[in-house]
Amino acid sequence: MADDIIRAGVIGDPIKHSRSPIIHGYWLRQLSIAGRYDTIHVPAGTAPAFFSSMIESGLAGCNVTVPHKEAALAVMDELTDTARSIGAVNTVWAEGGKLIGDNTDSYGYAANLDQRAPGWDRGGKATVIGAGGAARAIVYALLERGFDRVAIVNRTLGRAEQLANHFGPRISAHPFDALSAEMNDATLVVNTTTLGMEGKDSYTFDLSSVPEDALVSDIVYTPLVTPLLAAAKERGLRTADGLGMLLHQAVPGFERWFGARPKVSGELRALVLATM
Ligand code: ATR
Repeated sequence: MADDIIRAGVIGDPIKHSRSPIIHGYWLRQLSIAGRYDTIHVPAGTAPAFFSSMIESGLAGCNVTVPHKEAALAVMDELTDTARSIGAVNTVWAEGGKLIGDNTDSYGYAANLDQRAPGWDRGGKATVIGAGGAARAIVYALLERGFDRVAIVNRTLGRAEQLANHFGPRISAHPFDALSAEMNDATLVVNTTTLGMEGKDSYTFDLSSVPEDALVSDIVYTPLVTPLLAAAKERGLRTADGLGMLLHQAVPGFERWFGARPKVSGELRALVLATM
């Protein structure tokens, strides 16, 4: 392979169904950049071995997905403040012989809402459903964007409490049966759980307590209209789906590896939608 081709990819296990190659491939073509972006199957438990030879193998960097996001954190030479605070790495690049780990999920969540729901970050209270890894990135974004309070509602209360302790006094933790009560003064409601995702548990959300000017968002994008978003639309609330976060979180990595800042366009969205 010619040395002048910049190479990057996404590591995970499983990895076949990743849509990242479609996104980066589109930008490479659109910007006429001599580059490649491939899926790389890295079995669970072997991320440290992969990273120890990543620079030698000629990769400019990679995205990191399930189950390696936490393992990657431990083997980076340097971390951005965002990756350290979220506790997971999803984007890696090589710089001066060192591996730098970042997390662009919080950026992706916020950038998508900036594009599709301007004014979403007017402060007030956000109600976050879930307390897993995805929730950590979302809570980070909400605090960065100035929400005054964030209520985390989760099936396992202890995980919500852990997240609240990690992020400090603006965060509170609640059991799942407090969801309706915690949504009644929200300016933003976001689902970060797998509830409603194809192949996962379903759920019927009761949004009758949600203020009529609230924004309701989901980070699940299969299906595009999740049970939460369907309930929000039924009530006439403003909604934002999860596909945009996937597209926007890819932007910073592409810019690092390939040296040009790509745009999230309607054409890209349609291209990825056509694969779903
Ligand atoms: P991720 O890193 O993608 O966020 P995760 O850490 O497994 O994945 O977190 C999944 C989230 O979905 C958790 O908040 C989980 O709740 P628990 O902490 O109680 O496990 C939530 N979740 C998954 N299935 C659920 C269900 N059937 N009912 C309620 N919450 C569910």
